[in-house]
Amino acid sequence: KTIELSIENIDKGEYEHFMLKEIHEQPVTVQETFRGRVAMDESKIFLGGISDVMPKLLEAKRIVIVACGTSWHAGLVGEYLFEKYARIPVEVEYASEFRYRDPIIFDNDLIIAISQSGETADTLAAIRKVKDSRATILGICNVAGSSISRETHAGVYTHAGIEIGVASTKAFTSQITVLTMMALLLGHKKQILSTEEYQKLIHELTLVPDKIREVLAIEDQIEKIAATYKDASNALYMGRGALFPVALEGALKLKEISYIHAEGYPAAEMKHGPIALIDEKMPVFALALNDNNYEKMISNIQEVKARKGKVIAVVTKGDKAVKSMADHVIEIPEAHEAIAPMISIIPLQILAYHIALMRGCNVDQPRNLAKSVTVE
Ligand code: AGP
Repeated sequence: KTIELSIENIDKGEYEHFMLKEIHEQPVTVQETFRGRVAMDESKIFLGGISDVMPKLLEAKRIVIVACGTSWHAGLVGEYLFEKYARIPVEVEYASEFRYRDPIIFDNDLIIAISQSGETADTLAAIRKVKDSRATILGICNVAGSSISRETHAGVYTHAGIEIGVASTKAFTSQITVLTMMALLLGHKKQILSTEEYQKLIHELTLVPDKIREVLAIEDQIEKIAATYKDASNALYMGRGALFPVALEGALKLKEISYIHAEGYPAAEMKHGPIALIDEKMPVFALALNDNNYEKMISNIQEVKARKGKVIAVVTKGDKAVKSMADHVIEIPEAHEAIAPMISIIPLQILAYHIALMRGCNVDQPRNLAKSVTVE
């Protein structure tokens, strides 16, 4: 009853839908996620929710992330972050698979359950599966006092505020913000990151809100591109490195609110099958930022164009090479690789929203879906 009351109290403000409001809230919600957790002088990160178990976290020889849907995609971004900045091996598991397997769990494992609602049955079952082990179990939830947050040893709340739209947006960027802070904090405490590297990366994190604002400011451009592809029956998304999970998330956003069949792939996987799908009716959304995968992404885009596929590329502002070959480009601000996933998902959220709207879909409550899947 309390929850229903609070939903009635929440209004959409100037926005037509909760999802659009929540997309636009992200500069503020990411700020809220790191507010009070990043020192004012950007010298250090404090995560009070896990300080009691910090000795166990520093001993962890492996991280196992369990989650579903968008939260699972955030976990995949976390894999890149923990492996790069804290040098801890990570496995990311679908909670629904993990709960029915007979997983091998070591005493010094760190299990992280990621869940916006904190009530997802599969994720709750996954942590109950290992609660008798000696592993340390953390939660990254958005709802205080939720079941998962209560059943984990410790955790960090995302502080994204109530998320009404069934398609998760602001929770995703806040989940990645928490994962980034955890990876940097552990990396520095384990002396993988020097204090200088640590503080430079903290500074990059504090730039995220303004960089998201820059992308939100070109919503009209993105809406025009959405109009070109609103009648597609299928779509492919491709990215490399930590942008591969962003491709998966972009595909999930499109499929769950516009009902267009969409799949995300690691870009190099295209030649192992999916490239057979390419024809002039197939839009391919490519994440081609000026990072160390840029040249390889260019050749992936050329492979698609050679087969008459349509390419919509998310590029770094000022890009020329991709602009000369793609059908559309969406320019986002220069972003350090540690924060690129949080910036590059924004145009894909906006695209999915507008395509679904143009198709007359119920954006906030898509067919067959619930905000929190509390049953199997
Ligand atoms: C994402 O847009 C979907 N709403 C869905 O995949 C969701 O992420 C998944 O059900 C997990 O929910 P949770 O984060 O509340 O556990």
